[in-house]
Amino acid sequence: MPITKLEEAVLDEHFIKYSYVKGFTATQSDTALFLQFESAPHKDLPHLLRWYTHIKSFGSERLKFPGCKETFLSFSSNCTKVNIMVDKTLEEGEVVADGQQQEQTEDFVDPWTVRASSNKGIDYDKLIDRFGSSRIDEALLERFEKITGHKPHHFLRRGIFFSHRELNRILNLVEAGKTFFLYTGRGPSSEAMHVGHLIPFIMTKWLQDVFDVPLVVQLTDDEKYLWKDLKLEQCNKLAYENAKDIIAIGFDINKTFIFSDVDFVSGDFYKNVLRVQKHVTFNQVKGIFGFDESSNIGKIMFPAIQAAPSFSSSFPFIFGGKKDIPCLIPCAIDQDPYFRMTRDVAPRIGLQKPALIHSTFFPALQGAGSKMSASDENSSIFLTDTPNQIKKKINKYAFSGGKDTIEEHRALGGDCEVDVSYMYLTFFMEDDTRLEEIRREYSAGNMLTGELKAELIKILQNMISEHQERRKSVTDEVVKQYMTPRPLNFHSKS
Ligand code: TRP
Repeated sequence: MPITKLEEAVLDEHFIKYSYVKGFTATQSDTALFLQFESAPHKDLPHLLRWYTHIKSFGSERLKFPGCKETFLSFSSNCTKVNIMVDKTLEEGEVVADGQQQEQTEDFVDPWTVRASSNKGIDYDKLIDRFGSSRIDEALLERFEKITGHKPHHFLRRGIFFSHRELNRILNLVEAGKTFFLYTGRGPSSEAMHVGHLIPFIMTKWLQDVFDVPLVVQLTDDEKYLWKDLKLEQCNKLAYENAKDIIAIGFDINKTFIFSDVDFVSGDFYKNVLRVQKHVTFNQVKGIFGFDESSNIGKIMFPAIQAAPSFSSSFPFIFGGKKDIPCLIPCAIDQDPYFRMTRDVAPRIGLQKPALIHSTFFPALQGAGSKMSASDENSSIFLTDTPNQIKKKINKYAFSGGKDTIEEHRALGGDCEVDVSYMYLTFFMEDDTRLEEIRREYSAGNMLTGELKAELIKILQNMISEHQERRKSVTDEVVKQYMTPRPLNFHSKS
């Protein structure tokens, strides 16, 4: 039965308070309710629409939510109570048996969904096994230091960038005095970038400084248009807005080219897109990305667009048509499927496989069970937050590994493994000695949650206000410079 207007209004009220039907975790009740909708709710019901879009984004993964199938769900608002029948059969086959609890035991990671099965976050060792990448280990870091003369960045030392593909090959080149280039990107789906979005860019900037190499940054406004419920013009505009934040991170204007797919894809870049397209079948992308017959055809071809910047011949104005300059891609591990595909086709079209380094996910304030979401303002610290907002959010929402009472905390100590404020410190506190001291003192119960949070708040407030200052000086004119195809300045010894 279709949902009535009254039911919709009650639901909208429910989702003001709750993230999901049953509170704050997605369950089969969400899947069942979702199936009652023939199309997205009207935008006059923003809370219901937010829930709908969120559940929709899970795709067939929503069949794996925990919980059992029910026949009706009750909701109440101030003065109305409704029972909504939800006994429509499950889509795409029955995954959850009647009345049987399906526990979520495996982590799930693809470019669109990241879900951990515990609040310690994703099991990254397992992910390395499953994806077939390699761990960034002590030996590799030692070699890195020997060749570059730089102590590896704390993201590398602390396992935040934890996995790689052929980083050794890049180091060999550098050792032989040859050059390479960096490639990273961002899907511009909202104006509000949060601190988690900065991680790959901070790493990339450091690598650019250490190696003195060119960088290309892809803004996938096309991808966001194809996947999200957004207008094309909106995605394109967001690409230029996000470019400002990216530029504010400090990339060298003489060595950095930023582009919007919508505006840039053509010519030699497009030729490489076509080469990739011709050598990847629908069956392959189905297997890698989970597309199916009902996926729009833009999605099916999009991976070729994300692949193309891995090849130097896509940017003749930078590399003078050279097709063999190797590429290193810093990215979060959820982007790996794109580059597994890229590495698979590269030799078949006579091009070099890109090397990669992968980061872990930046945890949401509520816990490491998922990544931050730009659509939930309380799950993240945004680059636009004021010092006061930062303080409030950390104090109120950052999941604590501390104990309920001071006595208990002093006796038993805090748990750094689940404590979000501590995790954030591992990302943003550069001082190793102080970080280790905090870990010891907090675990021993000598340091309280409030004290730990105070240190984090200070660091974030400084970092964000410095970012805001730098962003202010990024004018439209500056953006235009970074986004103009032009020769970049680097030593071309390749
Ligand atoms: N698909 C990425 C996103 O949605 C954007 C992206 C494009 C990217 N190319 C990349 C990310 C290369 C990392 C590296 O955010």
